[in-house]
Amino acid sequence: MTEDQWNAVDRYFNELLVSPDVALDSALAASVAAGLPAINVSPVQGKLLHLLARAIGARNILEIGTLGGYSTIWLARALPEGGRVISLEADAGHAEIARANFTRAGLDDVVEVRLGLALDTLPRLAAEGHEPFDLVFIDADKPNNEAYFDWALRLSHLGSVIVVDNVVRSGDVIDAGSDSPTVQGVRRFLERLAVEPRVTATAIQTVGNKGYDGFAIALVTADS
Ligand code: SAH
Ligand code: DHB
Ligand code: MG
Repeated sequence: MTEDQWNAVDRYFNELLVSPDVALDSALAASVAAGLPAINVSPVQGKLLHLLARAIGARNILEIGTLGGYSTIWLARALPEGGRVISLEADAGHAEIARANFTRAGLDDVVEVRLGLALDTLPRLAAEGHEPFDLVFIDADKPNNEAYFDWALRLSHLGSVIVVDNVVRSGDVIDAGSDSPTVQGVRRFLERLAVEPRVTATAIQTVGNKGYDGFAIALVTADS
C-alpha cells in the first residue's frame, strides 16, 4: 500500500461524492496564494465534519484553529437558518485570510472569528455565558489538546459531539517516549479521554491526501 494509492482513492471519493463548491475552492486558493500551510482538513474529511454536524442537528458550533477557514466553511454549511460557528485563531494573518474567505462565501452573519490564543478566548466565551455548543472541532496546537478538551466539555451539553484532529501523526502516537510536544500532547489528551466519565469516545485512523493521521470523536453522555 503506497501513499500514491491513498491519494488516488481520495481523489476518486472526492470526485464521486464531494460536489465542487466555489466558496470552498476559492477559500483554499486564497489560502495557498497567501502562503498559509496546507494543513486544512481534506475535502472528504471536511464533508465528514459537515455530515456529523447535520446528523446531530447542530446549531452552535465551536472550532479551535481556523487557519484559512476551510473546515469552518464545511461546518457552517451544515447549519440551519440562524445557526452560528465561532472559530478561534491565534494568528492575525490567518484570521484575516479566513474572514475574507467567509465574506466571499456569504457567511459574514454565520461565522465569527475570535483572534487570540484559544486559552485566552475560551474563558471569555465561558464568562459571556455563551449558549452551549452542539459540536466542537479541536484542531489547533496539539500540546494544548487536553486543555481544549476540558473547555469543550465545559461549553457542551448532553449529546454534544467533540471531534479532535490529528491524533495519529503517521503512527507516532504510539511512541510513549517521543520527544515531540505534539505527540505528547495528543497522548495526554487520549489518556484523559479514556478516563473521562462524561463522554464515550473512539479514535479512527485515516489515510489520504492528509497522509496517515486520524480523528478522535467523543459523545458527551452527561451534562458538564
Ligand atoms: N481547522 C483548519 C486547520 C487549522 S490549522 C482546517 O482544517 O481548515 C491550526 C490553526 O490553529 C492554525 O491556523 C494556527 O495558527 C492555529 N493555532 C495554533 N495555536 C493556537 C492557539 N494557541 N490558539 C488558537 N489558534 C491556534
Ligand atoms: C499540522 C496541523 C494540523 O492541524 C493538521 O491537520 C496537519 C498538520 C501541523 O501542524 O503540521
Ligand atoms: Mg488538523
